[in-house]
Amino acid sequence: MIRFICPRCRAALENTAPDELRCLQDGLTFRCVDGIWRFLLPERESHFARFIADYETVRRFEGRGGGDASYYRALPFQDLSGRFSADWRIRAASFRALERLLSPLPPACIVDMGAGNGWLSNRLAARGHEVLAVDLLVNAEDGLGAWRNYENRFTPLQAEFTRLPLPDSAASIVVFNASFHYSESYEETLTEALRVLTSRGKILVMDSPVYHDPESGERMAAERRQQFLARYGFASDSLQSENYLTYQRMNRLGEKFRIRWRHIRPFYGLRWALRPWLARLRGAREPAEFGLWVGEAPDVL
Ligand SMILES: C[S@@+](CC[C@H](N)C(=O)[O-])C[C@H]1O[C@@H](n2cnc3c(N)ncnc32)[C@H](O)[C@@H]1O
Repeated sequence: MIRFICPRCRAALENTAPDELRCLQDGLTFRCVDGIWRFLLPERESHFARFIADYETVRRFEGRGGGDASYYRALPFQDLSGRFSADWRIRAASFRALERLLSPLPPACIVDMGAGNGWLSNRLAARGHEVLAVDLLVNAEDGLGAWRNYENRFTPLQAEFTRLPLPDSAASIVVFNASFHYSESYEETLTEALRVLTSRGKILVMDSPVYHDPESGERMAAERRQQFLARYGFASDSLQSENYLTYQRMNRLGEKFRIRWRHIRPFYGLRWALRPWLARLRGAREPAEFGLWVGEAPDVL
């Protein structure tokens, strides 16, 4: 079992009640409410309040989540809501690639960063891993509150990428599943991920949009802001998220943090494979690629 630390000062926490931990140094109390440990620091709540409100509004309007436990348990292989079946086919192909990577490895402690409704945490827990699901959202449909729907146990933690309540070298795998591009600083996010990773641990970045040309990423982000403004009346850009990756940026991050990346592109189907050619024919911007970045942390951190 992981012994949580204070996400502000990193001191060890005292158990002051069954579902309560206290940092004696900072005078902070952290509680487990509805099965979710709340580690979002009070001074960071206002930073994320607008993002959480906007994100939850958009996702509710889009009709994400909901339904009974069978909906959550079927992810990523089936979208029983039928609303995002094409998206989930891609997610399932990426997950299959992840499974192939993990299958030779013994059960490990894995941090699922930006876990959303926790479907990946559930799948990883089913394979015998100890999983910590980290997210800002605690709602029951699309956030960590959905943990109740699953047949496999994992630990939901409300926390942010760059202030984890986890001790150094706590995990051997950190996975960002469709979440890394929400980071406001890839450098800070990777610094914290490497802190909680064991030496030679794995950092996996799945299903974040990747472009060759940063201009394509900027255009995608601008298009999204326009769509949100037109549909919801707000641009949903209160966080200065990085929004996309480029091959060059990933290589630079690899050099800076001494992470050796491998990029795996699962086959998402012929239509998907033809997208770059079709875009060129139409004179449209470069479409995003997805896939899986597999990084190994250096020997000595
Ligand atoms: C597109 S969702 C992906 C959810 C899930 N991993 C999946 O694959 O369905 C991105 C998630 O990242 C979370 N997120 C974004 N920024 C975060 C941060 N700084 N710290 C923790 N979670 C964050 C969001 O709240 C959201 O649930």
